[in-house]
Amino acid sequence: MTNIVIIGAQWGDEGKGKIVDLLSERADVVVRFQGGNNAGHTLVVDGVTYKLSLLPSGIVRGKLSVVGNGVVVDPWALRDEMKRITDLGTKISPDVLKISDQATLILPLHRELDQMSEAAAGKGKIGTTGRGIGPAYQDKVARRAIRVGDLAEKESLEAKVDNLLLFHNALRKGWGQPEVDKADLMQTLDEIAEFILPYAIPAWKILSEQLKNGKSLLFEGAQATMLDNDFGTYPFVTSSNTIAGQAAVGSGVGMKDIDKVIGVVKAYTTRVGSGPFPTELFDADGDRIREVGREFGTVTGRPRRCGWFDAVLVRQAILVNGVQNLAVMKLDILDQFDEIKVCVGYEHKGKKLDYYPMQMNAQAEVRPVYETLPGWKSSTFGIREYDKLPENAKKYLARLEELLGVKIGMISTSPEREDTIIRIDPYEKK
Ligand code: IMP
Repeated sequence: MTNIVIIGAQWGDEGKGKIVDLLSERADVVVRFQGGNNAGHTLVVDGVTYKLSLLPSGIVRGKLSVVGNGVVVDPWALRDEMKRITDLGTKISPDVLKISDQATLILPLHRELDQMSEAAAGKGKIGTTGRGIGPAYQDKVARRAIRVGDLAEKESLEAKVDNLLLFHNALRKGWGQPEVDKADLMQTLDEIAEFILPYAIPAWKILSEQLKNGKSLLFEGAQATMLDNDFGTYPFVTSSNTIAGQAAVGSGVGMKDIDKVIGVVKAYTTRVGSGPFPTELFDADGDRIREVGREFGTVTGRPRRCGWFDAVLVRQAILVNGVQNLAVMKLDILDQFDEIKVCVGYEHKGKKLDYYPMQMNAQAEVRPVYETLPGWKSSTFGIREYDKLPENAKKYLARLEELLGVKIGMISTSPEREDTIIRIDPYEKK
């Protein structure tokens, strides 16, 4: 059995949902291991578009879907998402959806704090999704979070709520916000417990049983390497570790059981929210990528910032994740460009750099060094065989492989899952 981790190697929205959906056909279990409903994974299955935020993408195909301990769970948002997806015809029950009882809850006070602190930060704001992700992870690390399984133990829940509110009400007073009433919160938790507890289990245990029975796990990363809390463009990052190593930490599966790491990239780069972006385009080329690629956020609808492929950043992502093969998405969006640029290095204060420095100002100041390749000026939309790609598209991909030092195993040429060129089957043993 092959257990595979799928991660984003840029700033998110690479198309991980499509790759997870494609591979989930042969996986038995799909596992989310970090992030929350800040993720936006779009799947197109039999012409129906599913927009998932917290649910593992395998749910649409009836696969056992596990939300691991590393995830932050907003039960109200989850309930709404489940309704949207069941309205489209998917069946969701505690038999297919398992939520770790150790996962941290996102409460309404986290959402409010996320929005308050962003509003107060003015120009320095992160541009979060406003879903309370950061404040929930902060409470987890500070050891005052309420976790999913806590809802089942009324005796200890009250003390936990006291401890949580001691901090949050002091903070809210400071922000000039009304305090949260303990009785109200206890009642809210009581109501939501009824909905979520049927799905709550020790996920690590279920996963170990699945492994023992020879089942194949697919780990679905959310956000991406450049949004990782350690390896991303800190502080303009999300609040979780998004890299492949987190698949083990955020699910309770041992590292020896992870066989492969697949990195997903777009054929260009996008970013939502604030923060540095060396290859960002502010010209007609950027507008064209946004328009043709329909680059607007799945979760917030915000227009995405667009730019050329940055081989320096992706090379770095490949190393910190241990990526074995890449999936290149949205190749067709570049079909009509005369020329296509790739960033092959940076310049900073007269020096050449072959990696992205960690300092905030340096990250904003580096200038990309570009290599220009000829475009292919013909449609690749829907192509399913590598040999049918235009010569210049093949040259573009070959140059990326050279610069990145890994093979491109999959190439996507439309949102439909069948429109994918598979050069290296991740389930074939090397
Ligand atoms: P947060 O995760 O809501 O705290 O947002 C932190 C940063 O991560 C912001 O720049 C968001 O735009 C970005 N972000 C969070 N989730 C995603 C995602 O799924 N795709 C792209 N960017 C994301």
